[in-house]
Amino acid sequence: MENPSVKGKRLAAEKAIEYIRPGMTLGLGTGSTAYWAIQGIGNLVKEGMAVKAVATSVQSESLARELNIPIIPFSEVDRLDITIDGADEVDKELNLIKGGGGALLREKIVAAVTKFYIIIVDESKLVDKLGKFPLPVEIAPFAWELTMRKLAALGCTPHMRMAGDKPYLTDNSHYILDCAFGVINDPAKLHEQVSAITGVMEDGFFNGMADVVIAGTAGGETRVITRNGKSK
Ligand code: A5P
Repeated sequence: MENPSVKGKRLAAEKAIEYIRPGMTLGLGTGSTAYWAIQGIGNLVKEGMAVKAVATSVQSESLARELNIPIIPFSEVDRLDITIDGADEVDKELNLIKGGGGALLREKIVAAVTKFYIIIVDESKLVDKLGKFPLPVEIAPFAWELTMRKLAALGCTPHMRMAGDKPYLTDNSHYILDCAFGVINDPAKLHEQVSAITGVMEDGFFNGMADVVIAGTAGGETRVITRNGKSK
């Protein structure tokens, strides 16, 4: 039997694919949920649909290439029609925490130029308030201890993300600090405070960016949640 979380992710991805039309330029997300969306886009391409895409990580780009999805360089992109990406947490206002997979900086660059930004999750990612998932913060390796102390002063416990016995390196050769703040009552304010620290390249808050969140349930359904708070 399919794992319920995997099923939720796959169903959400399949629903998101329905928004794609021929000729669109797409943003490809990163992670185990975006994986299903990339597979679905690969199927559309196989069936003859003409689309092109930019990828938010080296990993997603190589998957897309395996599936013959035409990849264009970021430098050629001003606007993307649709991006489909996962998230680690989604609150009731559709604010997100992202970056569990380490691709937050590229994901945010892509999200910022996207006309219709679709987030796909299994229902376990829907929360009342953000913060159970530690906030990933991508930082410059130079003087990282100083940046870490400044983040801690905002009231969190930061942990260096590791790859074995070395700090994990992002696709942009930066470090990630996973910052456990506990319940976050004001994501917009905290995003401002974190971003104001020199040495922070980007944080994992994607506040007010999602146009729609699609949550797949283990029971085989999908909930489409729009920005105005309505479920369809
Ligand atoms: C990648 O950096 C992340 O933002 C992912 O989108 C997020 O961590 C969700 O990942 P999963 O779909 O693997 O849970």
